[in-house]
Amino acid sequence: MVRRSHRLHISGLPAGRRIELARSSAEFHDFLERLISDRRRDPRPGDLVSTLVQAADADVPALTGDEVMGVVAQLLVGGHETLTALISSMSLLLAREPSLAGRLRTDPSLAPAVVEETLRYRSPVKGMTRTTTREVELGGQPIPAGARLLVLFGAANRDPAGFSCPGSFDLDRTGEGGHVAFGRGIHTCIGAPLARLEARVAVEEIASRLPELRLAQGEPPAHLRSCTIYSIAALELEWETTRTQRDGKRDAETPGKRRGQA
Ligand code: HEM
Repeated sequence: MVRRSHRLHISGLPAGRRIELARSSAEFHDFLERLISDRRRDPRPGDLVSTLVQAADADVPALTGDEVMGVVAQLLVGGHETLTALISSMSLLLAREPSLAGRLRTDPSLAPAVVEETLRYRSPVKGMTRTTTREVELGGQPIPAGARLLVLFGAANRDPAGFSCPGSFDLDRTGEGGHVAFGRGIHTCIGAPLARLEARVAVEEIASRLPELRLAQGEPPAHLRSCTIYSIAALELEWETTRTQRDGKRDAETPGKRRGQA
């Protein structure tokens, strides 16, 4: 039997909750381990995990089990929390700014601009750590080789040197450099095109299907406590519903009220 140890960084939570989180993290790890050994034994065509365990050529050796696990976990976690954060941020903006929702309903071609400005204004990944491979100077500041840095994408996206009135949500920004919400360089987010597509569809549907979206009274959004992810932990929203008649047509005269949690 191989015994592995994992280190989980969770702080500021009661002991019971930390144990619960450690358990689910270990279960997730065991699930991935089983999945990878299943696919090694019985590879399936067109399956991502099978492709990863088989990938190798003359110059590049096959990935180790831990490497495959790292890639699969990063795809799952990196593509889930980030997008949840982006969609809930867009919902919050639409709920707080009925004029924005109205503009989007009248002109759905604005959806990509809403996605990009939300990525800038409420960057789902606040930052990531980096280690310098050589001595470097950044903004006049010398940084030695081997230094641990926290690169803050969220702060760069609010840099007044890059964006005018960076603290305002502005759909009509022109002539400014793009945001860095997906990072930049060799490790730039591999899922960015998928994230943009999913977010665009989500914001179009929210604007068109949930008219008069607003914050439920007395329910300010609670933000997640995290130094890397900028997300909303709970968001109580209300919107109007229209009763559907028997023939399938919507009866706009009889609105109701719905409440949902994002
Ligand atoms: C709103 C959604 C998303 C945001 C804001 C986001 C943000 C980021 C950021 C900031 C990085 C680091 C880039 C760097 O180091 O310079 C990253 C890397 C990565 N992302 Fe995303 N991401 C999102 C969605 C996704 C999705 C949907 C997937 C997969 C389906 C994904 C998979 C990855 C992977 C695998 C990496 C590592 C790339 C590498 O190290 O070469 N992400 N992402």
